[in-house]
Amino acid sequence: MSLWKHHEKFERNSILLLIGSILVISVGGLVEIVPLFRKEVTIEKVKGMRPYTPLELAGRNIYIREGCYNCHSQQVRPLRDEAERYGHYSLAAESMYDFPFQWGSKRTGPDLARVGGKYSDEWHREHLRAPRSVVPESVMPNYAFLANQGVNLNELADDLRTLKIIGVPYTDDMIASAYTDAEAQVLPDSPQAEALVKRYGDKVKVRDFDGNPGLISDMDALIAYLQMMGTLVDFADYDSGFEAVAQGNSVQGAAHTSAGAKK
Ligand code: HEC
Repeated sequence: MSLWKHHEKFERNSILLLIGSILVISVGGLVEIVPLFRKEVTIEKVKGMRPYTPLELAGRNIYIREGCYNCHSQQVRPLRDEAERYGHYSLAAESMYDFPFQWGSKRTGPDLARVGGKYSDEWHREHLRAPRSVVPESVMPNYAFLANQGVNLNELADDLRTLKIIGVPYTDDMIASAYTDAEAQVLPDSPQAEALVKRYGDKVKVRDFDGNPGLISDMDALIAYLQMMGTLVDFADYDSGFEAVAQGNSVQGAAHTSAGAKK
């Protein structure tokens, strides 16, 4: 067993052991990490993903400003209990235009990755104004002030321009129209609304989200963002092999469910 004799050399010489360990760990690390630098390999191609509209982006900025991520994740994990509660597990492609991503690390409240379309705008309005008026046991803070302040649309063009530099496919046309597109999303009957839909696709939800036509408020932007979440990818078209994953995790899934759904 000459191989074991060689091994002895490592065991008797700490420097050699250190160098050997570093070599072995680096190979393992490189094999796991390097492929992740190539987005085209790690992000599956799915239909329907598009950059956020300027108003949705403004809503996302408010979500970050108000620290919603402290209590909410945007990441449905591929475990049966999560998929049963929230819907299809999150795909990498769904956060490919998120800079920074909003996966979150804590769930004081539920995951929001698929909250779009789950409630009406009125529900969101009321819930953001006074969460306990719709969910009595809620510990979420009140955000009533969002309905009274106008959303800042002036920096959206710069926002889009910056995102374009880091790879979000905003066109020059989208950047030039950022301000009017944001206004148009709450004005369904305006001619600009048509242009908005042409630029971002007919799944874009165009309506007065906050119920106050006199003001394009932070509330409008935030609800536009919430109502879009998780609705972009067309799952009818996406074959994930999810059944296999769901079954493989069923034991673990059951344990999670009994431990309480809200984590
Ligand atoms: C202190 C923690 C906390 C913060 C901060 C917080 N939330 Fe919540 N949120 C909760 C809890 C707890 C619930 C579950 C009870 C309820 O529906 O109010 C919840 C529920 C929700 C729901 C309903 C989700 C569902 O599927 O039923 C939405 C939407 C929501 N929050 C959005 C937001 C937004 C947007 C912000 C930031 C403006 C925010 N939350 C900030 C704790 C928080």
